[in-house]
Amino acid sequence: MNVALAPYTLELELERELRYRNIAFEQRDRLFFFDADYRPLFAQVIWINCQRLTITSINDGVKQLRALGKNWSLFSIEHHRRAQLIQEGLPKIPDAPMPFLAASPKHAMGGWTLYDSNTIICSPETTSRYPLGKVEFIENKTTPPSRAYLKLWEFFTLYSELPAKGSHVLDMGACPGGWSWVLASLGLRVTAVDKAPLDNTIARMSNITFLQESAFALDPARVGKVDSFFSDIICYPERLLTLVKTWMAQGQVKNFVCTIKFQGEADFAVIDAFLAIPGSQMVHLYHNKHEVTWWVTQPCD
Ligand SMILES: C[S@@+](CC[C@H](N)C(=O)[O-])C[C@H]1O[C@@H](n2cnc3c(N)ncnc32)[C@H](O)[C@@H]1O
Repeated sequence: MNVALAPYTLELELERELRYRNIAFEQRDRLFFFDADYRPLFAQVIWINCQRLTITSINDGVKQLRALGKNWSLFSIEHHRRAQLIQEGLPKIPDAPMPFLAASPKHAMGGWTLYDSNTIICSPETTSRYPLGKVEFIENKTTPPSRAYLKLWEFFTLYSELPAKGSHVLDMGACPGGWSWVLASLGLRVTAVDKAPLDNTIARMSNITFLQESAFALDPARVGKVDSFFSDIICYPERLLTLVKTWMAQGQVKNFVCTIKFQGEADFAVIDAFLAIPGSQMVHLYHNKHEVTWWVTQPCD
């Protein structure tokens, strides 16, 4: 059995995703229990191949979990006090916010819940080394003009190499400038594109060129060779897919990193159309809202 924790407020999307994939599940609070060998997209963390432990006391719960692994994070669905007392008997887990580009924690992070007063469901093997998949950064509350920068921080810290210093990147839908700030601070040459103006501080950064126009009207021939195409444009997913395919067909871009935003319910047919692009990867980042992050990257030369 696997257990997926739905991202905060996105329980309905996880439910819809499992139904779309014809996977039977049981939902308890934000936890979804299912038997299929499937990694849901709308999951903050997935506990893999879970075990069911029958416990006779709090101490017995602590003992059995300790025998299976070192680090454990609890998602409590009921018997909260009893669950908390078991958690307090386990090694304290590191939960301090981390800097941008911090190394991944050395040890695996297990996940567990008290399913009923005498039953623990748990796995030492999960999809995240962070407690319950929460990727918390020491935030920069002064310079970036939006919190959107946290998505790129998470992407580069967990999922991708950085583009080589000095390389040319596109930031489509750049306003007010959180992503452009991250990219320019990494020493990249940024062409930022948006119909709305960039925040003044960001627009003044020497390695940012701003084009105030629609990303959909921009002719790829005008910008030349691009290492990475970043997009956080608010638009229908189908429109973004067409834009990406147009730029791919030009063959001038190596990597793509895009937020696919959903105005109503997530559209799994479009998600599958993006995933059908060779080399695709997709996650719901901890810092994504009602959206997912899709990318195709090639290793640095
Ligand atoms: C979520 S915001 C981007 C936030 C940005 N990544 C940041 O870090 O500050 C989405 C942006 O998409 C832009 N947008 C919407 N339609 C667009 C279009 N046709 N061309 C360019 N930008 C567009 C909006 O103006 C808005 O600034």
